[in-house]
Amino acid sequence: MDTIYADLVHYQVELEHKNEELEEAQHFIDSVLSAMSDVLVVADINGRIQRVNQAMLDMTGKRAEELLERDITILFTGDSVNMVREFPQRVRDHAITDCEAEMLGADGEAVPIAINCSPRYDSNGVLSGMVITGRQLGELRRAYRELQDAHQRLKDAQRQLVQSEKMASLGRLVAGVAHELNNPISFVFGNMHALKRYEGRLLKDIGPLIDGSLEGAERVSTIVQNLRRFATPNHQGQNWFDLSRLVENAVTWVAKTTRTTPELYFDMPEELPVHGSEGHVHQILINLVQNAIDAMEDLPQPRLDIHVIRQPNRVEVHIRDHGPGIPEEHLLHIFDPFFTTKEIGKGTGLGLYISYGLATEQCGGDLSATNHPEGGAEFVLSLPLEHGGTST
Ligand SMILES: Nc1ncnc2c1ncn2[C@@H]1O[C@H](COP(=O)(O)OP(=O)(O)OP(=O)(O)O)[C@@H](O)[C@H]1O
Ligand SMILES: [Mg+2]
Repeated sequence: MDTIYADLVHYQVELEHKNEELEEAQHFIDSVLSAMSDVLVVADINGRIQRVNQAMLDMTGKRAEELLERDITILFTGDSVNMVREFPQRVRDHAITDCEAEMLGADGEAVPIAINCSPRYDSNGVLSGMVITGRQLGELRRAYRELQDAHQRLKDAQRQLVQSEKMASLGRLVAGVAHELNNPISFVFGNMHALKRYEGRLLKDIGPLIDGSLEGAERVSTIVQNLRRFATPNHQGQNWFDLSRLVENAVTWVAKTTRTTPELYFDMPEELPVHGSEGHVHQILINLVQNAIDAMEDLPQPRLDIHVIRQPNRVEVHIRDHGPGIPEEHLLHIFDPFFTTKEIGKGTGLGLYISYGLATEQCGGDLSATNHPEGGAEFVLSLPLEHGGTST
């Protein structure tokens, strides 16, 4: 009797011990499951829910009792219901990985989720159910969408700035053109009034008057042609043009629009045919000359040296000013977008950035800056003699 009693006590102790171990294991599993941020559902082979974790309860806003023993499809919404209904069948063959589904959120809204579903086997290796885990896509999607929006806004802003830089150059040029048109037009008018007064005695003095009017009209027409070339630069097309004439034109035009017209020294061939994008070269020159003139703002007598050199396969346009030059630490940054040392409203810092892009990408050339040993900054625009097809 004593032995039986002793055995009973022994079993009792062992049982309690086992129970403790079991409870500990249970507690361990519970703590792991509730620490997971991914949602988890364990279902039997018919798709009946056996267990869910805390993340799942938080997402659905339900209590465990409301979900247990129910069909897994009640967790889903929309087309996903039909897809999930087939999980018990599909998971027999292989695990289902990374498919997108919509779960029913606490607020009744669909929550997009990336889910995986694996088969679960019992201790005898017999298929006994499935385990579904899922991760919310919403956060990732939202972050991605915000990034895309921000990128788009940046692109729009950049495009706008590039456009306004072009408009600013155009504005300066148009001011110069208006100034230039004033003179010839006034003497065309003057001559015409004189002609009117002489109406009756036209034979006398008529020759010089007509010549003068014609000359004035021709000057107006040249100016208008120059203006048109600038306003509608030949962006896509490439053609043969006289680089010397283009340089002289661009430099003179910009120089004339400034308060103190700089002295201009040209050293270039009489004529220099180049094949390429005339409009782009024009815009680069305008930007460089404008910068040079800005740099000499405080000089009583600004001076610009323009040197065009023909090399075997390319040409170089050197534009040197007599301003303060570019500080060493800025030389690396002047071609960066938005780099400017000018006050707000005066410079956008896009002139050289755009010019560099045009020189290298559109014209197949190069643009560089140095400080001249005898003072002032020197920019060198290098262009191939012949760029693009020679269709024109
Ligand atoms: N000839 C120069 N002499 C001295 N510094 C220059 C010269 N050219 C350019 N820089 C410097 O490089 C900077 C960038 O020139 P960039 O043409 O890109 O912009 P910006 O002239 O400041 O403004 P924007 O051309 O957009 O009106 C200038 O702010 C200036 O500091
Ligand atoms: Mg500039």
